[in-house]
Amino acid sequence: MSKVVVMDHPLIRHKIGMIRRKETGTKDFRQTISEITMLIGYEATRDLPLQKVEIETPICKTTVEELRGRKLCIVPILRAGLGMADGLLTLIPAAKVGHIGLYRDPETLNPVEYFCKLPPDVGEREIFVVDPMLATGGSATAAIGMLKDHGCRHIHFLCIIAAPEGLKKLQEEHPDVDITVGALDERLNEHGYIVPGLGDAGDRIFGTK
Ligand code: PRP
Ligand code: URA
Repeated sequence: MSKVVVMDHPLIRHKIGMIRRKETGTKDFRQTISEITMLIGYEATRDLPLQKVEIETPICKTTVEELRGRKLCIVPILRAGLGMADGLLTLIPAAKVGHIGLYRDPETLNPVEYFCKLPPDVGEREIFVVDPMLATGGSATAAIGMLKDHGCRHIHFLCIIAAPEGLKKLQEEHPDVDITVGALDERLNEHGYIVPGLGDAGDRIFGTK
């Protein structure tokens, strides 16, 4: 079964409080999403393997540790996932970036695919899928299904706010995917929005409403 971590850090709690406020404007919203992603990313990368290597400091020879194993790839789910990509790239600047474009049909709430561009060796990489909102779970489940169709087997999912319904769906459909969540909210409303949530993440990141 996947590992699910719901973050419990005062900085994350404080910053999520800021982005929930309806008066928070685009600039502060975007900046804070990026800061929260770095904090969540710190936890989500906790189990990456290390190897020992010999180096020389200006003083003497010593052994240090460096990341070992598969190369990394960050995959934002467009659009709102783009708001998290920069924050994670700050932590792991050598990662490649793939993009998956999905939007929720407002009537059915089902995800509709419109874009997919991934590095050619994506199947050999450790994947970090990012999307601020896990609501019904349809978009995350579909994006991870697309990655598995491209041969990916080592996948993590990071979001800022999850609804219990989406978390359950994602765990049931992809039990091998580790999930790191900034906050677990109460429920979905009748329009599929997370309650209390923060509204439409894509519109708030890009100022489109
Ligand atoms: C939002 C969000 C997720 C999705 C979550 O994207 O960024 O991708 O909804 O909902 P779900 O769990 O019910 O699938 P949206 O479809 O609004 O597109 P956008 O990012 O382009 O605004
Ligand atoms: N997508 C969003 O951006 N917000 C929600 O609350 C649900 C889906």
